[in-house]
Amino acid sequence: MAEPKENLQMEKIVSLCKRRGFVFQSSEIYGGINGFWDYGPLGAELKRNVKELWWNAMTRQRDDVAGLEATIIMSPEIWKASGHVATFSDPMVDCKTCKGRFRADQVGEIPCPQKPSKFVSECHGEKTPARAFNLMFQTYVGPTATEADIAYLRPETAQAIFAQFKNVLETSRQKVPFGIAQVGKAFRNEVTPRNFTFRSREFEQMELEFFIKPDEVIEAIHGAVATLGALDPKAPTPEPRPDWGWQAWHQYWVEERVRFYEGIGLSRETLGFHHQTPAELAHYARACTDILFKFPFSKKAADGNVTGDELEGIAARSDFDLSQHQRFSGKPMGVFDDELRAAWAKLPKEKQDDLWRRYYENRKNYLTKSAKPDETPEQIQKQATDDANGLAKGQYIPHVIEPSAGVDRLILALIANAYSEVTKTDDKGKSETTVLMKFHPRVAPVKVGVLPLLKNKPELVKKALAVRDLLRPWMNVFYDDGGSIGRRYARQDEAGTPFCVTIDFDTLGEKPELLDTVTIRYRDDGKQERLKISELMDFLLSKIR
Ligand code: GAP
Repeated sequence: MAEPKENLQMEKIVSLCKRRGFVFQSSEIYGGINGFWDYGPLGAELKRNVKELWWNAMTRQRDDVAGLEATIIMSPEIWKASGHVATFSDPMVDCKTCKGRFRADQVGEIPCPQKPSKFVSECHGEKTPARAFNLMFQTYVGPTATEADIAYLRPETAQAIFAQFKNVLETSRQKVPFGIAQVGKAFRNEVTPRNFTFRSREFEQMELEFFIKPDEVIEAIHGAVATLGALDPKAPTPEPRPDWGWQAWHQYWVEERVRFYEGIGLSRETLGFHHQTPAELAHYARACTDILFKFPFSKKAADGNVTGDELEGIAARSDFDLSQHQRFSGKPMGVFDDELRAAWAKLPKEKQDDLWRRYYENRKNYLTKSAKPDETPEQIQKQATDDANGLAKGQYIPHVIEPSAGVDRLILALIANAYSEVTKTDDKGKSETTVLMKFHPRVAPVKVGVLPLLKNKPELVKKALAVRDLLRPWMNVFYDDGGSIGRRYARQDEAGTPFCVTIDFDTLGEKPELLDTVTIRYRDDGKQERLKISELMDFLLSKIR
């Protein structure tokens, strides 16, 4: 039976990744280790570019976001407060026939160890009842390795941001609304890692926790909470306004993130959205929109359309995280807002009562849902009353909007999106199919190939090396003098290099009017034109930034 097309596409992508050094299986010489992947020379550059573009867009290009780089191992108390120790688990079943271990919700979709035909097999063996399997990797800190020394590799980068919220607030001179961004490794002992790097056990995240005022505070200060209508993808994203509530901020961040993807070559047509239903939402979340990418393995929905698989989730997480850390650490996580205190004093009594009541109800709901076993309803009511009384003093716990993206999934999306094949037939009727990786120049691992026409002509080589050295401080350049020029172009096409610059005899002045010009060749259409060396840098920088 013919393999489904999407599987062939994935096989081609996996094979290209190994052949060209994008992604290798971790520990391959020892047979590999399931769920772990290494990035080769081209993959490492691609990944670095993506992380840098994200960091740039999310922090340096904005006044309202500061960065953080925290440790992977943190106090285990953090994971108790966040709920990960108690609830970060997947339902797991064992197969009594093949002894495989699966996520209960994925049985039937996954490869069976006994039938290793790669993508389509299914195990029909009897399964054990499902049981919870905590996804956090556990380790010990210190030499005694007792129960008291247990620590975890972080399963998300977000919690360090919450734990360091006060330090960043105090040192960055930021005021709510503002965000804290972090890029880094995360670890999850996934029951069934699959779809190449899509679900790995070690991966990287790019997370922003954007802290905002609760809607009751916005209403107290501005009289009403502004919302956004439908956004026009062709118009600039609206400038944030002080009277935005959580819904406007959530919508804004979804749109900003989509535009980020567009800016690195993933058009809106390749993306999809999933708005989590109330049943899917975490109990503290008010909304979560997943941005999806249509991967070759993404399934067709009932209507025949492919919606895609998750690239990023943008969640409105209420004040849950900071509240939890306040409760578990005993350290205040709230902020003081002069504007709120001044505005509150001027509100009519009925408005104060109304806002107080709503804030009180929200706090009581949160405190009730996350109550420790020894907390009584009276204690909860007292705490909620204290919290609501804080409004008059200008105090509140910020809410958060969280755009959380996976680096590895984005790399896989960029590779899948870039992959194309070109078949050329020569004069003798012989056809050859080559791979063209159409990366956006911003993410392309190599920005420009510098090629002397011939490697045995010292004048050409000298000039080509001078061009390489001119460009090198500003971009990743690949110098290649091996093989025919056609072969060298083909190699760069496969690496996704958007431009190749060839130094030929005209560069040296064979035709005097062409002295110090080079041929620039465009990867996607193979077109070539001549450009002065003195104009090369500006031209290339305008394309790759
Ligand atoms: N702080 C929120 C959070 O971690 P998540 O939806 O569990 O939310 C965010 O993860 C993103 O991290 C996902 O959208 C995905 O891109 C990436 N991610 C999660 N688990 C992953 C895995 N096992 N392998 C690769 N990427 C993963």
